[in-house]
Amino acid sequence: MKIISSEIQAKEVLKNYTDIVLVPTMGNLHDGHISLVNKAKEIGKTIVSSIFINPLQFGVNEDFDSYPRTLENDLIQLESAGSHFVFHPSKEILEGIKNRKAPPLSKKMCGKTRPEHFDGVVTIVGKLFEVIKPQFAVFGLKDYQQFLIIKNLASLSDFETEIIGSDIVRENDGLAMSSRNNLLTSDNRLLAPEIYKRLCWIKENISNKSNEILIKDSIDFFKKKGLVPEYLKICDPDTLEDLNHFSGRALIAIAIKLGAVRLIDNILLD
Ligand code: PAJ
Repeated sequence: MKIISSEIQAKEVLKNYTDIVLVPTMGNLHDGHISLVNKAKEIGKTIVSSIFINPLQFGVNEDFDSYPRTLENDLIQLESAGSHFVFHPSKEILEGIKNRKAPPLSKKMCGKTRPEHFDGVVTIVGKLFEVIKPQFAVFGLKDYQQFLIIKNLASLSDFETEIIGSDIVRENDGLAMSSRNNLLTSDNRLLAPEIYKRLCWIKENISNKSNEILIKDSIDFFKKKGLVPEYLKICDPDTLEDLNHFSGRALIAIAIKLGAVRLIDNILLD
């Protein structure tokens, strides 16, 4: 596995590859990230993973400074997963970067509390696409809104990258894997699996209760545990518009803070 640490080096080393699958990450890798590398291996030959903690997508009071940095361990995991290259640029990658605006979809769900977040995401992912020129790029469905926004980015005429969504990987107790799970207190770690359990409960009841009741009951359920979801939605998987009734396709999505740790999860009914 070769490590590429600058834009110039990336352009030079990768210029003759036409079959690249890119797996963008911010490091602190877990099995969820590694599943993306495995997916990448199913769809293409040359796997380029990237590790860059992108300051542009963190709000002023968010956890950029404390975001876990575990490069050595990340590289070991990527190598054993079969990544051929790792693009790990310094913050010079941001110099002269083309600032991009995320589509209106970015104002919903996570965008309500993280207003600039998706602009930062599309700016860095746009840059990665420009530098790496991947044929495919793999994103986790855990960050479903991000996945939709990146699909929109890729549809712009200056890119020729196809976006592939990859299933959510969970702990044995159902909690979606996340770099932030390690930051939970032990009490909150015990509470955290309730998030996915409740999404499953909504899924099981979606055909026999109205969405309004499902959401209201679920918010009451979390309140009894001392938690208030930032959002809990049953919405259209393409537009993220709220759905009143279930008619075959839906995204059930939640963001919720456990102490200082903000977790997101979803179930896609397709
Ligand atoms: P990061 O949070 O490191 O996530 C990198 C990729 O891993 C994303 O596509 C995310 O959806 C996926 N992922 C995380 N946890 C997962 C899980 N439990 N199951 C499946 N996939 C999972 O998302 C970002 O970084 C950044 O916004 C990035 C796209 C790299 C741009 O900076």
